[in-house]
Amino acid sequence: MSRQELNHTINQLISPGKGLLAADESSGTIEKRFAEIGVESTVDNRQAYRELLFTTPHLHEFISGVILFDETIKQSAQSGQAFPQLLLKSGIVPGIKVDKGLTPLAGTNHESITEGLDGLAQRLADYKKLGAQFAKWRAVFTIADEQPSSLAIIENAQTLARYAAICQSLGIVPIVEPEVLMEGNHTLERCARVSTAVLQAVFSALSVHQVILEYMILKPSMVISGKDHQPQDGVMEVARATLTVLRRTVPAAVPSINFLSGGQSPSAACEHLNAINTRGPQPWNLSFSFARALQEPCLHAWQGKMDNVAAAQKILYDGAKLNSAACLGSLHVK
Ligand code: 13P
Repeated sequence: MSRQELNHTINQLISPGKGLLAADESSGTIEKRFAEIGVESTVDNRQAYRELLFTTPHLHEFISGVILFDETIKQSAQSGQAFPQLLLKSGIVPGIKVDKGLTPLAGTNHESITEGLDGLAQRLADYKKLGAQFAKWRAVFTIADEQPSSLAIIENAQTLARYAAICQSLGIVPIVEPEVLMEGNHTLERCARVSTAVLQAVFSALSVHQVILEYMILKPSMVISGKDHQPQDGVMEVARATLTVLRRTVPAAVPSINFLSGGQSPSAACEHLNAINTRGPQPWNLSFSFARALQEPCLHAWQGKMDNVAAAQKILYDGAKLNSAACLGSLHVK
C-alpha cells in the first residue's frame, strides 16, 4: 500500500465546498433513468449523456470527484479522450463503482448482500491502470418489521470492510456506503436506531479489517423518516437526528462524510445538507456524493437531444453550486 497515494487522493477529494458526482448507474439503473425521459438505453446514448456530464464547463469548481461505472471508465469523449483522463485534465478525480449489486442473503427474509469480492483485487488493479483513484461499494439495509436482521447487518458490514481493506492495499481510497433505504412508513426515530446499529457494525468491522480510517470516505444516508410516513420531518429535525447518529458512531479520524441523496428531491437533499452544516463545528467534512439529486434536473433538461446539451449542463452546474453552498452552510433558503 502506498500511504502517499492514499493521502494525495483523499486531499484532492476533500476540498471545502466541493462534493462528488455519482455517475455510476449500472446498466439496469441507467435504463430506468432514461425510460423516465423516453430515451433508449443504448451504448451511444449512455456515452453521449456521460459526455454531457463530464464536459460541463467549470464543474470542477464544486465537484472534486466523479464515480464511474465499468462501461463508462472505458469510454471516451467524441474528441477521442478517455473519460478518466478528460476528468483528470479538468481537475476532477475519477473513481469507480466496484460492487456487483445485490443478491438475496440466505437465512434472511428477502434481505440482500452485496456481491463482488471475488477477483476484486485484480479488477481494482485494472481500474487503477485506467485512472481510477478511488472506489465505491454500496450495501443496502431495508427497514421493515424485524428488518434489518442482525445477520444482514453483520454480513454487509464485514463485506464493506473487506472491500475497503482490499482497496487500501492497492492505494485506492474506498468510499464505504451503507445505505438505509427510505422505502416504508417508519419514523425518523426508527431510522435513527437502525442507522446507529448499522454504523456501529460497520466501524467495528473496519477496525477488525485494519482499515485506516484517515484514508476512507463514509457515504451514508441521512437520518429521515420513511417516504410513506406522514407528516414528513422538518429540515432541522433531519439535521439534528443525522448529526446525533453520526456523532455517536463515526470516529473523528474519518476525514469526510459524503451523503447519498437516496430518493430525496434535489431541493430537500440540498436543504438538509445545508442545515447539517449550520450546526457545526463537527469533526469531519460534511459533503455530498449525489446521483439523483444532481442528475434528475439535468436529465430532464437533456431529453436525449444534442440541442439541449448546453442547457442541461447549466442546470448541472447550478445544482452543484447550490450543494457546494450547502457544504458550507451558506445556502440561502427562500
Ligand atoms: P443517490 O444520490 O441517487 O442516492 O445515489 C447515490 C449513489 O451513489 C448510490 O449508490
